[in-house]
Amino acid sequence: MLILENKGVFVLETKNTHYVISVDPDGLICHEHWGRKCADIEDYRCTCKPWERNSNHSARDLARTEYIPYGGTCYRTPAFAATYDDNCREAHLTYKDFNVTFEDEDTFLLEIILEDKPYGIEVSLFYRLRENTDIIERFVKITNRSDKAVTLNKIASAEFTLPSTRPYSSTNFNGSWGAEFRKESTTVKNGVLTYENRKGGSNHTHSPLFILSQNATEKEGDVFFGALAWSGNYKVEISRDFAGITRAVIGINDFDFSYTLKPGKEFIAPSVFCGYVKGFSQMSNQMNSYAVEHILPKSFNKVPLPVLYNSWEATWFDVSSETQQKLAEIAADIGCELFVMDDGWFGQRKNDRAGLGDWYVNKEKFPEGLTPLIDKVKELGMRFGLWFEPEMVNPDSDLYRAHPDWAYHYDTREADLLRQQLVLNLTKDEVKEYVFDVMDKMLSKYDISYIKWDMNRAYSQTGAENLENPQELWYRHVKAVYEIADRLKAKYPCLQLECCASGGGRADLGALSHFDMVWTSDNTDPVDRLTIQQGFSLLYPIKCMRAWVTDTNRHSRPKDFDYRFNVTMQGSLSIGGNLTKYTEQELEIHRKYIALYKEIRETVQFGSFYRLANFDDDKIFATQYVKDGRSVLFLCRDVNTFFNDKFYRIKLDGLDGYSRYNVEIDGKTEAFSGDYLMNVGLEFEMGGTLQSKIILIDKVNA
Ligand code: DGJ
Repeated sequence: MLILENKGVFVLETKNTHYVISVDPDGLICHEHWGRKCADIEDYRCTCKPWERNSNHSARDLARTEYIPYGGTCYRTPAFAATYDDNCREAHLTYKDFNVTFEDEDTFLLEIILEDKPYGIEVSLFYRLRENTDIIERFVKITNRSDKAVTLNKIASAEFTLPSTRPYSSTNFNGSWGAEFRKESTTVKNGVLTYENRKGGSNHTHSPLFILSQNATEKEGDVFFGALAWSGNYKVEISRDFAGITRAVIGINDFDFSYTLKPGKEFIAPSVFCGYVKGFSQMSNQMNSYAVEHILPKSFNKVPLPVLYNSWEATWFDVSSETQQKLAEIAADIGCELFVMDDGWFGQRKNDRAGLGDWYVNKEKFPEGLTPLIDKVKELGMRFGLWFEPEMVNPDSDLYRAHPDWAYHYDTREADLLRQQLVLNLTKDEVKEYVFDVMDKMLSKYDISYIKWDMNRAYSQTGAENLENPQELWYRHVKAVYEIADRLKAKYPCLQLECCASGGGRADLGALSHFDMVWTSDNTDPVDRLTIQQGFSLLYPIKCMRAWVTDTNRHSRPKDFDYRFNVTMQGSLSIGGNLTKYTEQELEIHRKYIALYKEIRETVQFGSFYRLANFDDDKIFATQYVKDGRSVLFLCRDVNTFFNDKFYRIKLDGLDGYSRYNVEIDGKTEAFSGDYLMNVGLEFEMGGTLQSKIILIDKVNA
């Protein structure tokens, strides 16, 4: 990083890019450049000037800024808004100072301190840079140095100004339950495009991120992106003004939110991980490896995830020691390494109408507790995992009968149920402690090494009479979830945590800073899954993408296990069908693929990956994973076509052009140069419905 102090310019240098910030004579923090490196950094300067064309155009409103507050003559989407003690609702943030901290030999942190002097408020903009990546971590800290409380009405984590005045294409998801991560792009026209969540902790619709591109393909074109590490209400506002300047403001949603910052206190907003790259593939690969290295909890980030069995689709709520032991025997026999018992084991949980909150083992289903089942699972050589939905309570539960006031509520409003349940008020210390204690008790009593933490409803009646400022609850609830997860992990270092919210409703980089992986979607149909997984892979780490092979048949799709395995092996392979109903031949298919997955999972979970083809453009899905001398190519033919298009040629990626590779296809092995495979392509034939192939490509004499 370089600081041109005499010019008031900060040049942040990543592996391939420069991100340049300046301070104008009035102390406004301006954005100068985000893109390729300039050869001579001395060229960078503050370009921000008073640009009052006429009385209707204010300089502040038009400036290229880094973190614009609401106040003065700035009317566009602000990054920050506050109400001071004297009811002044204008914030003026001007440059005060900067600090650089070398956190370790590869990492440094720049802090640019702004102040609203009359009110004793400091806003620090942080930029963390690490070696060998183009990802920059941005976050802000607000410090109240006055002796009066201030109400923070909006605290975005960052504002971005995009370089080009030509319109950008914005990509996010158009999702819902069972249909998460369906990629959708739109042109950013003049006005404001908003992606947000107001439901509390869960959202299948969009993701807290922005991807702004121009003429981009997987390999080419400018791509600017940022992903917010936050699992609660968020807001991404992408705007384009009359002068063609595109900006993105991203952070905690200001909808029904405010935060009272008391004297001497500070508030740190969640981080945004952002970058500029050429093509979507680089974006995914940089974020994938960055997340594994720097975002995921440290305990298991470098460890391949186990092949797990989950009982949900096999037994639903109807769990018992016998049924689970039977499933465990078969799961172990086919090669699973972890057995997870899903919903139904606790309280009076016979269906979704009762039991949530009562985290004791159901005596009718498990007369001798969980010990016989866990002993059996361990004897079979697997580890044991358990499902919880800790933030929730059914009105029909001992917990709710004893503490009706522990759920969010308004005394004057009838509680709206969703999935027959209510949300616990985790902003109350006693509720947070209860949740931690019940999980802690189960973990200390039983040998549990994995928890699937579920969350199946949006909030409503969000009264929180315990808080001086109830609008803080959206923020405090999410922090409480993170805190409980962290405490459990600290006390049980071998514990792995899976984050689930009716499928992929809480899959974001915030969750992935505290949980080791996420459940991607309740939709386990293999064809739908290809789209869901490809969307997930845009900015979230492949290793964390739990995928189950099941026999659920939502769309009358034939139960073709080869195809199902081919799809699920592209993430973190798991099994979820009713194994007791399978034929020996079907179990043999499971054995074969699980064994193969164990051979290739290092490549899949830690390799670079390339989305080579998709149904819309190519009538075939092709994804390639590469690590060291090994590459794995997954091919899934479009099932919706009966046309006789069965000859394909696909160009591979990520290989060494000068090396030779053995390609194993349809039982035959042929050698090609990396150059040939990447420039001419691999030719193969594949026809018929539900056809798929897994092709291993290994460097000769690697
Ligand atoms: C929703 C999850 O997404 C499912 O996998 C399962 O755990 C159910 N909840 C259990 O109620």
